[in-house]
Amino acid sequence: MDQEFLKDVCKGLEQSPKKLSSKYFYDTRGDRLFKEITTLPEYYLTRAETEILEEQGALISNYVKENDKALEVIEFGSGDGMKTAILLRKLGAGGISYSPIDISMHVLRLSYENLSDQVPEIIVDPIEASYDEALDILLSRPRSGKRLILFLGSNIGNLAMPEAQKMIRGMAKILDEGDHLLLGVDIKKDPETIRRAYSDAEGITAAFNLNLLERMNRELESNFEIQYFKHYAAYIPETGEARSYLVSTREQVVNFPGAGKEYKFSENEAIHTESSWKYDKQMIEELIQDSGLSQTASFSDRRGYFQDIVFRKMG
Ligand code: AVI
Repeated sequence: MDQEFLKDVCKGLEQSPKKLSSKYFYDTRGDRLFKEITTLPEYYLTRAETEILEEQGALISNYVKENDKALEVIEFGSGDGMKTAILLRKLGAGGISYSPIDISMHVLRLSYENLSDQVPEIIVDPIEASYDEALDILLSRPRSGKRLILFLGSNIGNLAMPEAQKMIRGMAKILDEGDHLLLGVDIKKDPETIRRAYSDAEGITAAFNLNLLERMNRELESNFEIQYFKHYAAYIPETGEARSYLVSTREQVVNFPGAGKEYKFSENEAIHTESSWKYDKQMIEELIQDSGLSQTASFSDRRGYFQDIVFRKMG
């Protein structure tokens, strides 16, 4: 039994209100459900970013790549590599190495397969690690060229501001003057459009959230009765936070025999499972504060829903 997972879960369920970390969504089934989410009509994020990379990838490339210089592309939270393949093609084949970082070996394998298939000339060197571990590894790893960090897909949005700033500062530390970070952020927009992206009609996002309970039952031997929990998503326009919950539909008790613990739920009690932060100009400025990064360009989809922003490390 993964003791760290168990400890983390128990800590979250002992808080008031109860909380679980969205990083645990991504077991094999979670990865598959997330992939399905990215194709849903309501989940505009992936389509918007794909449009940016397809239509403006060549322009982005002009900002981050110097002719004839080797480029070391490092991607945090790489996913299956489909979007990255579009950008890597635009960056041109010569002298590019690519290190996807993910805690899921399953995801890294998918990314490796897609990239070897679509951009066979690129050297892929995956790093199976958490973001923090990867930052440590990269701090001491010899560089193979100018660095470009990719943090796409609104992955930054799953971190609240102090942690998000810490993450960006950590990334900036492994960059030298003139290196770049390409960051994908979801922009504040019509609240209903955002809420629907986290509450789709087919119920795939609900299954994605509920899968966390199934995962705990399987891996931590808890006894959540899945049918007595439902998914609920809200969006708070003033702060830009989309919040996902699992709500207990009746009074119940859940046991974790591995920790000798039990947790009581009242009817309508909610577990906060995920935050997905949406950005505006001011939040982007706050995000890069004191990081040594400076915004050099930003690229938006036609509807202005999403932005890929280029930041340059200053001396
Ligand atoms: C991975 N992450 C950026 C997604 C998001 O939009 O917050 C995860 C997700 N959760 C529900 N739908 C998608």
